[in-house]
Amino acid sequence: MAEPLRIALAGLGTVGAGVIRLLDQNRELLTARAGRPLDVVAVSARDRSKDRGVDLSRFAWEDDMTAMAARGDVDVVVELVGGSDGPALTLARNAIRAGKGLVTANKAMIAHHGMELAEAAEGANVALRFEAAVAGGIPVVKGLREGASANAIEQIYGILNGTCNYILSTMEDSGADFGETLQAAQELGYAEADPTFDIEGIDAAHKLAILAGIAFGARIDFASVDCAGVSRVRAQDIAQADALGFVIRLIGRADIDTSTGEARLFQRVQPCLVDKEHPLAAVDGPTNAVVAEGNYVGRLLFQGAGAGDGPTASAVVADLIDIARGDAGTPFSVPAATMVPMAKADTGHRMGHNYIRFTVTDRPGVLAEITAAMRDAGVSIESLIQQGKPEEGGEVLVAMVTHEGPESAVTEALRLLDGSDSLTAEPLVMPILEA
Ligand code: NAP
Ligand code: HSE
Repeated sequence: MAEPLRIALAGLGTVGAGVIRLLDQNRELLTARAGRPLDVVAVSARDRSKDRGVDLSRFAWEDDMTAMAARGDVDVVVELVGGSDGPALTLARNAIRAGKGLVTANKAMIAHHGMELAEAAEGANVALRFEAAVAGGIPVVKGLREGASANAIEQIYGILNGTCNYILSTMEDSGADFGETLQAAQELGYAEADPTFDIEGIDAAHKLAILAGIAFGARIDFASVDCAGVSRVRAQDIAQADALGFVIRLIGRADIDTSTGEARLFQRVQPCLVDKEHPLAAVDGPTNAVVAEGNYVGRLLFQGAGAGDGPTASAVVADLIDIARGDAGTPFSVPAATMVPMAKADTGHRMGHNYIRFTVTDRPGVLAEITAAMRDAGVSIESLIQQGKPEEGGEVLVAMVTHEGPESAVTEALRLLDGSDSLTAEPLVMPILEA
């Protein structure tokens, strides 16, 4: 029997405990596939006394997880703690410096420090793998890095946050508003410890920035992701979208914009109206789905569980199998040193249809004021609906769908309306994703 791959596991929460369960339950199968046993030798978390539903007495315990990197009896460190910086990053750096492989599910850390870690790992000739960091159990990192590696990827987009997808699709089914549905998502354990990262689109932006690095060979640039979350979507928007033949989904989207003659990186996360005929419209609950369009393969759709102990452990252990096989490759599709920095793309010229929702005071002249701003900015209105029948002076929703036009025209229309005392809240713009 070949020598085991010796693993130190930091973080014994949802994912960490899931990894131990999977390694135990599928031990024989994993040994056969990896060509050698995958053995945990040391573990670490904050609270040694916590019952995690798995037997930890077999493993050495480290109070200071960052010390695991220095253990002589470890080949690979698995970081399942979380946080872009702090102890997770210290452990990652120490592990690579000490010549250990590193497997992580930490999208925040890879989005912020992935380039540094990848360069260090390549320099030290050790593996760095992060399949679980993007879309949980879906093998999309491997799919792009390996399966689709013959293609130039033209665009990549998808549903990258299970919490938001659960919230939006539950609001769709129940007619409930955002607040109560978020609470249900938290009770079901879908949301991150700080739900702001989920609902404001930051978690999806982390994953999108990583995907863009893999798909386009651009240096990861999380700071240039435009990001809006789902907290401003109302039940009425969902009902309105439904009547128009759409569902609302939080979509992360990235492509390379060459309109200026130079390759620039477009990355955006925002709620969109998705045509009910589009495959992403059928993705509901906490499921994730990623569409990649390659110049030879065409449209690829990766779909599955984006979170949870089992699916996420599945991705972590798949990375361990690759490392055990000696099959780690570069962390991204190309060596990190060759990944090019790309300027952020301007978006004013991007063409599309938009849904724009205004909340307004119901009084004479308000619609005329909005439509005049649209006219003056050159936005052509395809349909316009006023919802609700409050008493004179109350708040109503005015929703419109625009004809195809440049983003800059919508921006200009909203600038013209900025500060208007007819509007009771900032307008919400959601692009339309056609089938
Ligand atoms: P979690 O349940 O909160 O577990 C975090 C673990 O880290 C806990 O065991 C905790 O110890 C330990 N920990 C925290 N701070 C520590 C410190 N300073 N020193 C030592 N240990 C520390 O988190 P999780 O859901 O398993 O997520 C882990 C990672 O996977 C994160 O990067 C997350 O973004 C990523 N991820 C999660 C999912 C998912 O579905 N949950 C999916 C994809 C990716 P105690 O238990 O003792 O408190
Ligand atoms: N909180 C994340 C989500 C889970 O809702 O998708 C793991 O990425």
